[in-house]
Amino acid sequence: MAIAYLNGEWQAPEEAKISVFDRGFMFGDGVYEVMPVYWGKVFTLDEHLKRLNRSLGEIRLKSPLTDQEWKALFSEAIDKSGEKTAVLYLQVTRGVAAQRAHEYPVDVSPTVLVTVTAAPGLERRMITPYAMVTKQDFRWGRGDIKVVSLIASGLLKNEALDEGYDDAILIRDGLVTESTASNVFIVKDGMVLTPPKSSFLLHGITREHVIGLIQANGIAFEERDIAEAELTGADEIWITSTGHEIWPVGELNGKTVGNGEAGLVWQTVDSLFQASKKEQLMG
Ligand code: PDD
Repeated sequence: MAIAYLNGEWQAPEEAKISVFDRGFMFGDGVYEVMPVYWGKVFTLDEHLKRLNRSLGEIRLKSPLTDQEWKALFSEAIDKSGEKTAVLYLQVTRGVAAQRAHEYPVDVSPTVLVTVTAAPGLERRMITPYAMVTKQDFRWGRGDIKVVSLIASGLLKNEALDEGYDDAILIRDGLVTESTASNVFIVKDGMVLTPPKSSFLLHGITREHVIGLIQANGIAFEERDIAEAELTGADEIWITSTGHEIWPVGELNGKTVGNGEAGLVWQTVDSLFQASKKEQLMG
């Protein structure tokens, strides 16, 4: 059962209402996290809280709760939902300012929204490799902050969908940044590569977890810039995110990647990823 917590009240998500003066609504002035829930527990919880605190700091908003309080709230939300495989969404905005003004309001409490919704897509399933297209990354220069204003990502994703692709891989100044809602990895001659962290891409929690698994298991890896031309010559391309875990790309700009199927390195790393979920949450 989907459940929402909004500023202290528990209700069905479709019942939850915010003010038209909420700065999240008026200005997209807020940050968010999307966390995966398996076996009724949040995976990589500490990492998500760390990024939340960083995002809040970057937009100069004091966290309304401590990490311990967030954890208690998330557990309560998951318990109330009764869901075991779910997505926990958290949004914190600068709150309700009675008048629309660019200046930050003083003495205003942030708006806190938590929802838990079933995510059957996170159950292990048949993976169909994606067909992707490259597009110019015209988003703002602080992609490292997980802000709720996602208009550019929405435009790019929907352009790709309208053209018959599953999603877009974004290119800035000739280099790969990320996808519209996931990070990008490639494999070339057995070496796994991903672009380094910068202000142009989100520091994905899945990305970081995957890097940790790769390094712990002695798989050749380098964090470095990837030119657009290298994408075309890659043996494998993957995207990583909370919702997709590690997802193979079978086609880029109409050309087959590798043999068009999920590659061998993907299979190894995905197995490590699945095992790490069990290990972290089920001991
Ligand atoms: N998207 N890059 C962007 C632009 C993203 O929006 C996301 C996540 C990621 C991957 O981050 P993570 O591994 O922490 O999920 C990379 C979330 C899931 C969303 O907006 O729904």
